[in-house]
Amino acid sequence: MVAKFESKYGYFDEAAREYVITTPHTPRPWVNVICPGDWGVIISQTGGGYSWREHASLNAVTRWSQDIIRDNWGKYVYIRDDRSGEIWSASWMPTRHSTESYRVRHGMGYSVIESEAGGIASSLAITVPPGEPLEVWLVRLTNHGSDERELSLFSCFEWCLGASPDWHREFHRTFIETSLEPALATMWARKRLWEIPDDEGRSWNRSWGYTAFHASSLAPEGFEGDKEAFYGMYGDASMPAAVKLGFLSNSNGKWTDAIGSIHVKVTIPPGESRCVSFVLGAIEEGREQEARALIAKYRDPLEADMARERAARFWAELLAPHQVSTPDDAFNLMSNTWLPYQAISGRMWGRTGYYQSGGAYGFRDQLQDSQVFLPLDPSHTAKQITLHAAHQYVDGHVDHWWHPISEIGGGGLYSDDLLWLPFVTISYLKETDDFSLLDVEVPYRDGEPESVWKHCQRALDLSLLRLSERGLPLILGGDWNDGLNAVGTAGRGESVWVAQFLCTMLPDLAHIARSRKETCLAEKYERSCSELAGAVNAFGWSDDVEGGDGSLDGHRGGWYIRATCDDGSVIGAPSCRYGRIFLNAQVWAILSGIAGERDKRAWDAVVKHLSKECGPVLLAPAYGEPDDKIGYLSRYAPGARENGGRYTHAAAWAIIAAVMMGDVSEAWRMYEAICPVRCGLSPDTYKAEPYVTAGNAAGPDSHVYCEGGWTWYTGSAAWLFRVGSEWLLGVRPEWNGLRIDPCIPAHWDGFYMKRVFRGATYEITVLNPEHVSRGVARMTLDGLDVGGVELPASGDGKVHTVEIVLG
Ligand code: GLC
Repeated sequence: MVAKFESKYGYFDEAAREYVITTPHTPRPWVNVICPGDWGVIISQTGGGYSWREHASLNAVTRWSQDIIRDNWGKYVYIRDDRSGEIWSASWMPTRHSTESYRVRHGMGYSVIESEAGGIASSLAITVPPGEPLEVWLVRLTNHGSDERELSLFSCFEWCLGASPDWHREFHRTFIETSLEPALATMWARKRLWEIPDDEGRSWNRSWGYTAFHASSLAPEGFEGDKEAFYGMYGDASMPAAVKLGFLSNSNGKWTDAIGSIHVKVTIPPGESRCVSFVLGAIEEGREQEARALIAKYRDPLEADMARERAARFWAELLAPHQVSTPDDAFNLMSNTWLPYQAISGRMWGRTGYYQSGGAYGFRDQLQDSQVFLPLDPSHTAKQITLHAAHQYVDGHVDHWWHPISEIGGGGLYSDDLLWLPFVTISYLKETDDFSLLDVEVPYRDGEPESVWKHCQRALDLSLLRLSERGLPLILGGDWNDGLNAVGTAGRGESVWVAQFLCTMLPDLAHIARSRKETCLAEKYERSCSELAGAVNAFGWSDDVEGGDGSLDGHRGGWYIRATCDDGSVIGAPSCRYGRIFLNAQVWAILSGIAGERDKRAWDAVVKHLSKECGPVLLAPAYGEPDDKIGYLSRYAPGARENGGRYTHAAAWAIIAAVMMGDVSEAWRMYEAICPVRCGLSPDTYKAEPYVTAGNAAGPDSHVYCEGGWTWYTGSAAWLFRVGSEWLLGVRPEWNGLRIDPCIPAHWDGFYMKRVFRGATYEITVLNPEHVSRGVARMTLDGLDVGGVELPASGDGKVHTVEIVLG
């Protein structure tokens, strides 16, 4: 094993596809979000975290309370030496015992906590087996001493069984009931209340729709369902009364504050090991027989062990169609494993993290996230497109968010949400050439089914209606930047960015319309595009803005403004006190191709004013005080999140602009500045996990400049994955095939990529004998010259060799 990117807290084990944490004392909780689609677990290096099914905050199985500093809520296994009475735990929390060694291996589909204390080595492996509604804990204890040891194990967690947090616990606890089935070594748990409305729309009148279960492989010495009996009144999690005494009371039933705990005993001769497995799951009410079968299966520790291998294989197979080998190890680690794993496990399926316990679908969020599947298995992207189309209304507007299970949805009137439907549909079509998706009929939330293409058109129609007198889109309750939520509530404020966003996709939509022989529609889209571009260039350029103190480091404008407020005042111009320049307005001017010769000035302004050590920040300078006309963006601490922080999602877009501008060194500088592997080399400044992207890192106006936060639950993962593959390595699906136009550091000798595209597999080798950054001198497909940089799709399901020589 070669330890890569090692810091004092851990390192990457590339071959095992694990990040190995070597101490419990990381600067923040460093977690794994393990969700292969339904059951999910989040677990930190101390053992903190929670479990859920389908929806992390509407359907939480175990209780958790967000506390990033203390990280003191988890599902734990206590270990008790029954001869000495000494107590410690398989994870560092909750006993905070001193350990001789401590290692946490976060892998794809599992986490393992290994530690050694008091002559006993323990390993706790937590796995979520794909396709099954449960998690398996395999505890292996090894006696490294010279005396036989008699040990007790006590599992322990609190049942939540529904909406989390259950703010009013005294109310909620009375609806939970636990029962014991000692012959099956199982505790069952149900809740007779679920916060979501019943079939007739009545609130507070239905049971939680599942039966939860907790079981062990060994015959239990006892169970505990009562929190008070376990901890003792005013008890301490580091020394629960029941663990101290060494037995449980078998309390169960109703009215208690319900927990789950099973007590088992093992005797271990010197030099030997013993394994115990625990299962925690939840099955739909009425299907308890299936749960019994699953419990029986995983009571065999061998099965529990194999589950981990199966889980790892599931994830490896999912990510296999897109693999790279470049001279940049950090890039490889992110592209091959961590970015797609984060985007799928954390954002698409788990939809939760430590910084935000979620579970809902965001209309724009998971659509963008689903782009991670394009080179892996685009059928998942198609599924997401139709799912989101089903959350659109006949007039074209969409739910900003909705909850699976309850289908409750809504949210503010954001001007961009609906447009992500055509945007991602275009990406799907370029990837797959599967135009049949456009004809798939999907119902509206308030109407009869129509084709996906019609859904896209309705999104466009509504957006193109919602224009100001000057022909710019109204920003309404905000756009991609949620924090601009007060700018246009009176219906007059404008979004320059939405105009640019539209201009990015309208030519592609015209292309689709033409391919369907809908010429009038194609012309309409082309006309709209040029009108919007005209309006952006007439009213959205800061040279047109007068007044104010007008300087940012002596620079008096020459960039795109971001928006206008209802009262006509401008956001993102030199005349503004705060937020004088915004990243998105420059970047998307370039992405949309509407800037003409202004693109160079817009880009220079980005490099000069926004590209910082932490990566490109979203705006500068940060708002120093709340501004009622702007919204909550201005209310964040300066430099935090959207208020002048590096917002990683938007920073990824900036890399595309850098590539389009031919600024190779800036493109890679930005990539490295936001790449968590590299940020993680200054772990006491950056603090966040080095293996997944942070939603944000604090900007220069913050006193914690460069500190990362909001990890896992961020749309930046899918985007950075896409940007790395399509723009930096330059392997990009276009209407006619796969364009290969790398943009790499000149010192690279080349790189390799395996890429599945429209059913065929391409083994792409790029050679860089002249050490250039760009420019394809020759491309061959299976030994034959292609003549150009666009690889026509063979669609033959075979493996092809592609060789590219730069120069
Ligand atoms: C959050 C939201 C996302 C939004 C972004 C920028 O990540 O989930 O929808 O675009 O913030 O404000």
